[in-house]
Amino acid sequence: MKKTLSAFVALSALLAVSTSFAASGPDGATLLKERCGSCHAVSRTTGAKKSKTDWDKTVVRMMGKGAKLSLEERRTLVTYLANTYK
Ligand code: HEC
Repeated sequence: MKKTLSAFVALSALLAVSTSFAASGPDGATLLKERCGSCHAVSRTTGAKKSKTDWDKTVVRMMGKGAKLSLEERRTLVTYLANTYK
């Protein structure tokens, strides 16, 4: 558990650093459609309401299950989810 938490903290730190090197990739809506709809309906996501922290946790959890997202894409998607499904 402690190990998981520090991995999470390290990832979050990396994420903060990568913010200043924002590259233009797919937008949040596209990522959601393409990366989050393969195991369950996208409505599983669009029916949820979460804070940004909780969305980040959910997305990291889904990455653990096999969702494919780079750090940059994770940031874009979490921002999109937090602004849209709150
Ligand atoms: C590899 C398969 C897989 C992918 C890809 C996937 N999910 Fe999931 N997701 C699951 C499974 C299995 C569950 C139900 C079990 C659970 O909640 O752990 C679930 C449950 C959920 C839930 C409901 C539970 C909660 O924590 O609120 C949400 C919301 C969710 N997924 C969002 C997403 C998002 C956003 C993405 C894209 C980043 C995504 N999922 C991609 C497998 C996947």
